[in-house]
Amino acid sequence: MRIEIQIQRFDPDNGQEPTYESFRLEVPRHITVLDAIIQIKDEQDGSVTFRRSCRSAICGSCAMRINGRSGLACDTLVVDELDRFGEIKVQPLAHMPVLRDLAVDMTPFWNRIESVKPWVEREEGTEPEWPVEKETLMPQSFVDELDDVSRCIMCMACFSACEIAEVDDDFLGPAALAKAYRMVADPRDCETGERLSKLNEHGGYWDCTRCNQCVEACPKDVKPMEAIVSLRREAINSGLTDTVGSRHITEFLNIVRQEGRLNEGRMPLKMKMSQPMELLKIMPMAMKMLAKGKLPMPIHPPIPRVREVRRIMDAKGKGESK
Ligand code: SF4
Ligand code: SF4
Ligand code: FES
Repeated sequence: MRIEIQIQRFDPDNGQEPTYESFRLEVPRHITVLDAIIQIKDEQDGSVTFRRSCRSAICGSCAMRINGRSGLACDTLVVDELDRFGEIKVQPLAHMPVLRDLAVDMTPFWNRIESVKPWVEREEGTEPEWPVEKETLMPQSFVDELDDVSRCIMCMACFSACEIAEVDDDFLGPAALAKAYRMVADPRDCETGERLSKLNEHGGYWDCTRCNQCVEACPKDVKPMEAIVSLRREAINSGLTDTVGSRHITEFLNIVRQEGRLNEGRMPLKMKMSQPMELLKIMPMAMKMLAKGKLPMPIHPPIPRVREVRRIMDAKGKGESK
């Protein structure tokens, strides 16, 4: 079949903004976007620049944005893109400087991965509680728990898709936080507390908005957002509760427990109660909302059968339901 692909071209040496260049080519029906770009490079323009290696969704090097969505070019069929969007436009991954065409400088991504110390820290002279022969093995239950996050191939698609990475250079991003959870949940590691404390700061797990974009972008089903939620749970369970994020969860659960639903009028009051100055800061906005009839009523009667809500929460375990 005959197709057209638009590739974003950029040459840092010519001082011009990126532009799209269209290529028309004859391809087999089930060709991938990566193979189509390789064909363009082989047959039409050898200067088209991109990364690739395995062509089998293993190495993670061919991630790019295809019709605006970040993913692996070797795992994306041309025909699927045409069916869905009627065109194929490819761009480099977002939130990283472009070196040339589709190749980005991966330094910002690797710096984040490195900053979470993605290795097991062992205390000198300690032995694990289970028998050690040659390697220090984990019990199978831990291996199962870490199965998702262990599948990461460092392709950066999630980082490119992340809305917070777009606006906050300090945010660690989904892959680094998933890797951090990989280490926090590893029973052989002796720095769990230090890791959680560090990740409790600005740029860590509380800055994620849970938009799910990283989950959708990930070609390996790592589910980074779930790892971030697990980090939050570990943090609260370990006593790291003095953050806006953890107060939000605690008060959210308390209000739902009392009233059987979220009372958005009470939420800011509960959250800021211990910080009167912060409460004063939101008063002008609250007055404006009140004037426009948009302020939710702070007093809601509990819903009927609220006891059943409490029973569900008790069964699930308070603190584990968000
Ligand atoms: S869920 Fe969180 S980490 Fe994932 S893309 Fe959204 S903001 Fe980023
Ligand atoms: S979490 Fe998924 S999308 Fe992100 S780097 Fe790892 S494999 Fe790629
Ligand atoms: S070329 Fe290796 S993942 Fe696509």
